[in-house]
Amino acid sequence: MNILDQQKFWDNKILNWEKARYSRGRGEIHDRITTAYSLVSGMSSPLRILELGCGSGRFAHMLQNKPEIEYVGVDFSSVAIRKAEERALPKEYRFFCQSIEDVDFKGFDLVISLGLLDWLTDEQVSKIGKESQSPFFIHSYSSKDWNPIKFLHSCFVSITYGYKSSGYVPKYRSEAEVARLLDVRKYKLYKKNLLSLSRIMSNCESDEL
Ligand SMILES: C[S@@+](CC[C@H](N)C(=O)[O-])C[C@H]1O[C@@H](n2cnc3c(N)ncnc32)[C@H](O)[C@@H]1O
Repeated sequence: MNILDQQKFWDNKILNWEKARYSRGRGEIHDRITTAYSLVSGMSSPLRILELGCGSGRFAHMLQNKPEIEYVGVDFSSVAIRKAEERALPKEYRFFCQSIEDVDFKGFDLVISLGLLDWLTDEQVSKIGKESQSPFFIHSYSSKDWNPIKFLHSCFVSITYGYKSSGYVPKYRSEAEVARLLDVRKYKLYKKNLLSLSRIMSNCESDEL
């Protein structure tokens, strides 16, 4: 799929996907964002945050009451960015409709991505690792380790859209692959429970986790 088709794919999917994943207030995607929030909560401010693949700004919405945060959210879906801009967030929170290929990584303390790496090629993940200049990072990925949930997830993807998205489906990676592509050595991995597919790789610390 070329980038225009990928953007169209997400324009059609993102708001329904978010609604389905977040409305229950529990589950993998909810755990992922709350884990990331706990990690950011443990950091001292002021803090300049760059979020890649920010969707409609749900993470920014969670952060908004924290003092002294400057936030930039980037996503290539114009539907997601329009929705993010409709949120009444502090003026230090800005959103850009951009592909990660075009992002200026300079001047941030923390780069975060939730659910983005799964949709990127190895080259794009490496580019994030190379271009990120911030001392701190939080990136989620879907683990390749065998687990019944992974099997069910890949069946669900094939049946619902994989058969028509020309191979544009989420990727599973190992810890070693993600660490190598991002070129990181010192980090911790966070996962909520044994059956969780989602991992967060980060060098931020939190007393809550
Ligand atoms: C699974 S959603 C996650 C959204 C949000 N981070 C969350 O966790 O709720 C992945 C997001 O990444 C965005 N995305 C995928 N590929 C991208 C790219 N190459 N550049 C910018 N955004 C991208 C999609 O538009 C989508 O909003």
